[in-house]
Amino acid sequence: MSIEARKSDHIKISLEKDVSYRKSTWLEYVELVHQAAPEIDPEDIQTETIFLGRRFSHPFIIESMTGGTAEAERINANLGEAAAVFKVPMGVGSQRAGIAKPETVYTFRAAREHGPDAFLIGNIGAVQLVENGVEMGVKAVEMIEADALAVHLNPLQEIVQPDGKARFRNLSKILEKLRNELSVPIILKEIGCGLSREVVAMADEVGVDAFDVAGSGGTNWTMIEMIRAEEMRDIEKKALAEVFLEWGIPTAAAVMEAVDATTKPVIASGGLRTGLDAAKAIALGASMTGLARPFLEPATKSVEDVLATLRRLSNQLKTSMFLTGCRSVDELKLAPKVVLGPLKEWAVQRLSHGSRQT
Ligand SMILES: Cc1cc2nc3c(=O)[nH]c(=O)nc-3n(C[C@H](O)[C@H](O)[C@H](O)COP(=O)(O)O)c2cc1C
Repeated sequence: MSIEARKSDHIKISLEKDVSYRKSTWLEYVELVHQAAPEIDPEDIQTETIFLGRRFSHPFIIESMTGGTAEAERINANLGEAAAVFKVPMGVGSQRAGIAKPETVYTFRAAREHGPDAFLIGNIGAVQLVENGVEMGVKAVEMIEADALAVHLNPLQEIVQPDGKARFRNLSKILEKLRNELSVPIILKEIGCGLSREVVAMADEVGVDAFDVAGSGGTNWTMIEMIRAEEMRDIEKKALAEVFLEWGIPTAAAVMEAVDATTKPVIASGGLRTGLDAAKAIALGASMTGLARPFLEPATKSVEDVLATLRRLSNQLKTSMFLTGCRSVDELKLAPKVVLGPLKEWAVQRLSHGSRQT
């Protein structure tokens, strides 16, 4: 199957089917403590934030999604323009397609053409770097004049994907080499199974600049690949995917793990659906919060639809800040919170200072 056909399958399945995890992000186990006397006016709340040396209007990221097909051009154009207008970073989807087939580069470039000032995040699979060398990362950055490069880790997807390649050997050496060859920051990201503290610590040591946890509780790639395997009548891959459908680190736990393992910026993503989810993730220590699938449908329609989604998130975040008496994102990081149930147990067993964050 061609890369284009696979990419258009991914968009179609994500738009048409419920491909969410059955388990949650565990953000429901984080309670921000209500402050009944917030001595601030809602208008005074500042959502501006600095990430990787640039100032953004909100701690939101439009997560990596697509490229390589005609439909992807429209999606990337709408997302790129909205990202520039709203002043938030935006990721394009895996650029492997653009590197293998230069005639599809325009589908990725659309984000840059429509968002000349946008902070764009390029995207390449760790598997591509392992198999074809760090030049893949350099080419991805050049293709869209990216301001940062996301390297995605997707071992479960590669294993269950009918045409996948699960090759991650020597990754730490390759990331180190990439760091030396690239002039823009590197973001290491998962795609929905979460980053553990071990992986974050390894990558921190070799110079990765930021970590996007992409935990479980949102878009479920094992389910998307299971649906594809079924359509392709690949019985073995379908059966394998079925067993691992609910595999992964819930997003709230992944944020805690990452924050515990690095002092560099952590992006919370995977199943965040509201500005309140974002506020909770920031209170757990995340610097930025990312959403993918909630932007997909609006992006198939118009720039205005994407901006409406961003404005809704903004209102919800500001309301969360008002009710916790926080004037700024830095204050929100320190907002009083209570960590409950399984998330507390996870913290006790997994964090270096089990009680620090709980
Ligand atoms: C249609 C679609 C395509 C995606 N393609 C990519 C990709 O090419 N590269 C990548 O790193 N992540 C990709 N992702 C994963 C997202 O960036 C994100 O990590 C994940 O979907 C969890 O966020 P969500 O629950 O808000 O969707 C994709 C997600 C969606 C919904």
